[in-house]
Amino acid sequence: MERFAIRGNICYSENQKSIRTIEHGYVICEDGKSIGIFEELPEQWKGISCRDYGDRLIIPGLVDLHVHAPQYSFRGLGMDLERIDWLNTHTFPEEEKYQDSGYAKKAYTIFTEDLLRSATTRACVFGTCHKDATLWLMEQMEKAGLAGYVGKVNMDRNSSQGLCEKSAEVSAEDTEAWILASEKFSNVRPILTPRFIPTCSDELMERLSKLQKRYGLPAQSHLSENLSEIEWVRELQPKASCYGDAYRIHGLFGGDCPTIMAHCVYSSEEEIRMMKEQGVFVAHCPESNANLSSGIAPAKRYLEMGIKMGLGTDVAAGSSLSMFRAMAMAIQCSKLRWRLTDQSIKPLTVTEAFYLATKGGGEFFGAVGSLEAGYEFDAVVIDDSKIRSAREVSVRDRLERLIYLDQDAEIEAKYVKGKQITDNRQRKTVGDNNGKYVSGENSAVSE
Ligand code: GUN
Ligand code: FE
Repeated sequence: MERFAIRGNICYSENQKSIRTIEHGYVICEDGKSIGIFEELPEQWKGISCRDYGDRLIIPGLVDLHVHAPQYSFRGLGMDLERIDWLNTHTFPEEEKYQDSGYAKKAYTIFTEDLLRSATTRACVFGTCHKDATLWLMEQMEKAGLAGYVGKVNMDRNSSQGLCEKSAEVSAEDTEAWILASEKFSNVRPILTPRFIPTCSDELMERLSKLQKRYGLPAQSHLSENLSEIEWVRELQPKASCYGDAYRIHGLFGGDCPTIMAHCVYSSEEEIRMMKEQGVFVAHCPESNANLSSGIAPAKRYLEMGIKMGLGTDVAAGSSLSMFRAMAMAIQCSKLRWRLTDQSIKPLTVTEAFYLATKGGGEFFGAVGSLEAGYEFDAVVIDDSKIRSAREVSVRDRLERLIYLDQDAEIEAKYVKGKQITDNRQRKTVGDNNGKYVSGENSAVSE
């Protein structure tokens, strides 16, 4: 049995309304899970190895519920278009390049390295429709120690010639081969990824539905991102009562198929009711929705209604992999929405945004997104000492500041399921007692 503790200024979301902080507290990990947060090491655990991170912040690993790995190569570019034109002009031509394994390897190495350096421990990732490139991405993430779901994208209509799969049958066959090939991974799991209704024929959706049942896989896609798309789906799928229903009629909208739908900016009352009933997770992607002039999703309303929700960066419609930035944007956009369009829905608070980036999105993975007992031990140690201020700042305020100033902070160490996957300071081992005592730079050695 592997057991150890880490020590530092712990900060986590108890629920949507409360952040708890423990100064110089301990989190104990046993076999990849937290067995609790403590102000002092309890007597029975006194002998275990403890890494002391001194005055650093320790927060749960952040969860990115929606990101496109192949689009990372053109992040920060091509933002002057709306969604459909953006897809045709920038996105599809970029994603075509991933049939070239040399390009895919280069690009996915950069994506994985940068994700590893971020505060994100888990992500739900779109690849491209290329099976081999997607497997390679999964392998890189697995090797890096990151956890999450990765999807080979499906699209058999309304995409560029070079990207459109030859037929529904070919798309489904490739998807099944990819599912079987990804069995070798343990922390990075496959997720069915029909890009969105406009690019997936009924036949393809039916075939994916069969695969979903055969392999018990979750699904991810896009929903009600902008108004013209909703109109287009109405024409493409007249049988569906709303956009979400176009997924539901193929069994790919929650229920027995755990599902994440990105955006939900313009979901109708019926669609919202359906999401709630079916337990569909909303991936709220505020930066993407601003960049592509899509709009602002009523995230606060979803939260208050008890709809399951997390945050997504949606790179490259979002420019950055930073989940801190996603939190800041969620708060800022909700304020503009409140002020400019709908006074009945209050802005999101810092506490709510932190909840969404940790426990809210983490729930898609089970007990993920907290450091409390029973949760998987995903933790991030952050050095914010370069954010200079004359003022004494509480741990809670340091977390709040980080949401807006994360570019000035450094991720010092990161743990996923109890395994340390980054260590930027190569801390010194200073003692031995069944394991190791490691001291934080500015702190006393644990005794
Ligand atoms: N809808 C379908 N594909 C995409 C995509 O790649 N990004 C965004 N933002 N919306 C989409
Ligand atoms: Fe997206």
